[in-house]
Amino acid sequence: MNRLLNCINNKKSSDTPVWFMRQAGRYLPEFMEIRKQNTDFVKLCLNSDLAKEITIQPIKRFDLDAAIIFSDILMIPYGLGQNVNFKKGFGPQLDEVQIDISTKINNETFTNNLKPVYEAIKKVRIEIEKKNLIGFAGAPWTLFLYMINRRSPKKNFNFEEIIKNNTLTRDLYKKLEEIICLHIKNQVDAGANIIQIFDSWAGLLPENQLKDYCYEPTKRIVEFVKKLNIPAICFPRGIGKNYEDFCSSVKPDCISIDYEVDPNWIKQKIKTPVIQGGLDPKVLLKNREDIEIEVKKYLDIFRDQPYIFNLGHGVLPETKPETIKFVTSLVREYK
Ligand code: CP3
Repeated sequence: MNRLLNCINNKKSSDTPVWFMRQAGRYLPEFMEIRKQNTDFVKLCLNSDLAKEITIQPIKRFDLDAAIIFSDILMIPYGLGQNVNFKKGFGPQLDEVQIDISTKINNETFTNNLKPVYEAIKKVRIEIEKKNLIGFAGAPWTLFLYMINRRSPKKNFNFEEIIKNNTLTRDLYKKLEEIICLHIKNQVDAGANIIQIFDSWAGLLPENQLKDYCYEPTKRIVEFVKKLNIPAICFPRGIGKNYEDFCSSVKPDCISIDYEVDPNWIKQKIKTPVIQGGLDPKVLLKNREDIEIEVKKYLDIFRDQPYIFNLGHGVLPETKPETIKFVTSLVREYK
């Protein structure tokens, strides 16, 4: 039985599916073991055997409804020829974008640059057989922001500064939209059967720019995913009350909510896409009684509608693996 697809496609409300953003990551000692010996994060993402192994690590430990391919949204800038580095304690660092190179890379070269990612998906698919395998991409806005800002944005982030070169913005946006679709198609061809689109910095867009920089391009990508007969999950983190407009414009199959969204509010406002996630990852650092209360809160609120249990952002590195096991069984057993 495929709980997750049943939930998204048939809108069945019993048997809540569960998986976690960043379920393959630094909170797992077996990930850290591999990571210690592979200090170059991008190279690790391009090692198809290790990427396969890391993807499967949480599946071996926990009763999850999906694997998500171990990779990163910044593999798209890498595939477009922009060098990406992950510095310990700093986060991602990108070289200056060479716009003439990045906008002119053809589909074959891009696909070739990321071939090990697709190989890893093929290898995971063989190993997990019919289990769900989530492929993903960053949304145009979040990728554009990383490519221009060259690091995670800080509090003094300035939208006008990021888009000040009109030609570059237009050309790169167009290229990103095309290449995101290609990256998604390649993942689906390799065996991914669900796609999640991460717009982690959507909340930094001025409200009057959401339509042009977030909804419209994301909507075209979601339409592309739907044409492949694959469900699309969207995560436009931090847009607050605009989740409502996002859903009516973009029409994803499923909307993943961040931890600042009031679950009762969204339940009232959003009727069509299936809701996923919401729980603050920091809750998983508390004691079991508190965790149980918070997990049950989400399960109770969404009890009579299809809901996918997940967090409102990725699992924190300080999380105990036993907590993920505990939460997974809470979701499984709660009636
Ligand atoms: O398990 C999974 O969720 C699949 C793999 C995955 C990773 N990154 C692995 C990773 C996914 C889906 C992502 C998405 C991603 N990457 C996003 C969108 C989601 C979000 O967190 O908002 C973003 C913004 C990135 C960019 C990125 N990658 C940053 C800012 C960082 C450094 C800080 C951090 O959050 O860890 C990464 C590194 C990264 N990507 C790690 C992992 C497991 C940690 C790498 C390490 O071992 O140092």
